[in-house]
Amino acid sequence: MKRYEKFADHIAELIRTGVLGPDERVPSVRFASQTHGVSPSTVFQAYYLLERRGLIRARPRSGYFVNALATRTIEEPAVKPAPQPQSTDVDVSELVFSILGSIKDPNTIALGSAFPSPNLFPLPRLARSLASTSRSMHPRETVTDLSPGNPQLRRQIALRYTVGGVMLPMEELLITNGALEALNLCLQAVTEPGDLVAIEAPAFYACLQVLERLKLKAVEIPTHARDGLDVEALATALNSLPIKACWCMTSFQNPIGASMPEARKRQLVELLREHQVPLIEDDVYAELYYGQHAPKPAKAYDTDGLVLHCGSFAKSLAPGYRIGWVAAGRFAQQVERLKIMTSICASVPAQAAIADYLQHGGYDRHLHKLRYALEEQQRAMMAAIGKYFPKETRVSRPSGGYFLWLELPEQVDSLQLFRLALAQGISIAPGPIFSASGGFRHCVRLNYGAPMDKPQLGAMQTLGRLIHSLL
Ligand SMILES: Cc1ncc(COP(=O)(O)O)c(C=O)c1O
Repeated sequence: MKRYEKFADHIAELIRTGVLGPDERVPSVRFASQTHGVSPSTVFQAYYLLERRGLIRARPRSGYFVNALATRTIEEPAVKPAPQPQSTDVDVSELVFSILGSIKDPNTIALGSAFPSPNLFPLPRLARSLASTSRSMHPRETVTDLSPGNPQLRRQIALRYTVGGVMLPMEELLITNGALEALNLCLQAVTEPGDLVAIEAPAFYACLQVLERLKLKAVEIPTHARDGLDVEALATALNSLPIKACWCMTSFQNPIGASMPEARKRQLVELLREHQVPLIEDDVYAELYYGQHAPKPAKAYDTDGLVLHCGSFAKSLAPGYRIGWVAAGRFAQQVERLKIMTSICASVPAQAAIADYLQHGGYDRHLHKLRYALEEQQRAMMAAIGKYFPKETRVSRPSGGYFLWLELPEQVDSLQLFRLALAQGISIAPGPIFSASGGFRHCVRLNYGAPMDKPQLGAMQTLGRLIHSLL
């Protein structure tokens, strides 16, 4: 255990035992460093860690304070022993479409939605970039910016990787119609129908649908609410089954919210390298971190070109523009050819608009505000859960993104809850849409991407009442 982790555990213990109470100031960095004989940077690292765990929070120019919610007893989802690995045919699309189809009504309170509130995005500023780049676009660019994509945009993306500690040749980057296309192409590039793919349990439902469409079999690997994919369980699966690819989210996993610690990401890459199994890394929430530093992707530890890293602007900047990308490592050429065969290229004006915005629009300023808003909204939703939901409810504590994963008491059927809630004008995402094997029946994913205004709070209260009625 590193020094800062030890110190963080010491402070966490003080919070757990109530020595440091709700909203109380934690020792200043200088004081802690002097009294505990550790360097200020160790204290900082420890406080960042505690912040990521949701135990403390920084207040501008005032220092760190105990997060009031941290002292409540909302437990995190339980860690269960990994079952014997096995492969499953995926047949979840009907359920997913019926659920998604029924929550389209714009009058519902969209707690089941996959998107944050569109009001959180700088759409007018983006429109200015779209207008000005379209006006000044040379006719030649409508042809030269076909796949792999607009060079300015790819340069900007490569720069953002560099700042995050990942050195990436621009040639590796391909612009796609959102990350979902990138993920589809990657999986297609590294598998044949009938192959086995290791995925998380629970997994993003579109991942299950891609497997279903490509006639692949799922090997579900348990995923913990805090630390993500169980790498040991994956190792067991790799030793016993002919797995051809692994698809996972290493940060702010949808739906469970987990982020793998750096050491675990490194371990994952190393394990897959030993087995020469490509990793398709879905990192669409990468920019939505709440702490001081962006988590590194598994791609940062890839020395063999075996990690295909997929990103998107849909969650952090421009929903609806449908611009995503992939850095596909040694599979870059294959993926680019599949892209050309599938849809030729991503929208040229949309690429140019985003490239212009990244250069001149103040992306980092926008992200700063967005992260702050989402973190605040998480706190508000946690508070509402604490107030209205049964006390046995377990909730994940993501350090980024905008989803909470709830384990409700076992007897609550989330599909029944979904129907009851929808009748009241509230959507939720029930657990079984995130499972290849129909699991997570008593779980739900809630979206806190919209501010906790009166209607949202009313929806949380109603949801709490409905859950109580099912006990
Ligand atoms: C985990 C995850 N991956 C990928 C996507 C798709 O991203 P995009 O909208 O860029 O296609 C989503 C969208 O909901 C998502 O939640």
